[in-house]
Amino acid sequence: MGEGNNGAVRFDDQVALVVGGAQGIGKAIAIRLGREKARVIIADIDGPMMDATVREMCSEGSDARRVECDVRDSAQVQAMVKQAIEWHRRIDVLMYVAGIAPAVPFLEMNEKTWDNTLDTNLRGAFLVSRAVSPHMVARKQGRLVFMASTNCLDAEAQLGHYNASKAGLYLLAKTLARELGVHGITSNALGPGFIKTRLTEPILHDQDFMKKYDVTRGLIPLGRLGTPEDVAGPALFLASADANYVNGVLLFVDGGQLA
Ligand SMILES: NC(=O)c1ccc[n+]([C@@H]2O[C@H](COP(=O)([O-])OP(=O)(O)OC[C@H]3O[C@@H](n4cnc5c(N)ncnc54)[C@H](O)[C@@H]3O)[C@@H](O)[C@H]2O)c1
Repeated sequence: MGEGNNGAVRFDDQVALVVGGAQGIGKAIAIRLGREKARVIIADIDGPMMDATVREMCSEGSDARRVECDVRDSAQVQAMVKQAIEWHRRIDVLMYVAGIAPAVPFLEMNEKTWDNTLDTNLRGAFLVSRAVSPHMVARKQGRLVFMASTNCLDAEAQLGHYNASKAGLYLLAKTLARELGVHGITSNALGPGFIKTRLTEPILHDQDFMKKYDVTRGLIPLGRLGTPEDVAGPALFLASADANYVNGVLLFVDGGQLA
């Protein structure tokens, strides 16, 4: 099977903000949005990676810009959204993808790691969606897509802080579906399983952990780990007109791991 999308162009003239789009899953989403003619703004803490991604996108003819932003900082989030609005006057699609997942056993967990994870994965989503939503409300349309995880339902050892942040993110997405639906805005979450990116790179070398993911023993029915591109398609679906009546769902993208 190919990469998907069959040459569809679903986002012509739309403005898409991909927060956490410098690399990994966010980058794959940004690239697909650009290929489908969205005007893409990437916001991320990693300036050099963003530069490389924006260069790559522009070289294939996409309209892409970047804003450096640490989602843990409210002032930076507000400045980032202000810049996006100044450039394009509106935001049609928000993809909240920024996230971290440092593995720490619960008995060794310190407050700094806990707070940093919750601030990035959950509080950042609150800050960004709070800054973006009024612009969508004013136009009576908008798409919010939050990158949760299988971990928001399936507790994984050594990731209590991460699991809690993603469970919170899922309920935030559902709450916004309830509150903002009346304004023509949909809010949904994605639940990727095990996707090969920088975030999961350390785990790939952890023998004990990988035993659990022994794909030959059938933990993942499709028999392989996922790629960022595997997640981009479902993310764009939730932001597309095909999902006009999809609101408040969690769409797993896990090769059947939670089946
Ligand atoms: N890889 C997986 O297996 C997997 C599974 C389920 C969910 N997810 C989620 O998908 C999202 C993307 O993960 P990924 O695997 O592509 O990881 P990644 O590390 O490749 O990408 C994460 C991006 O978020 C950015 N980021 C981190 N902290 C930030 C901050 N404070 N401000 C702004 N940007 C920040 C990083 O710079 C990076 O570009 C995360 O939310 C992650 O929890 C990943």
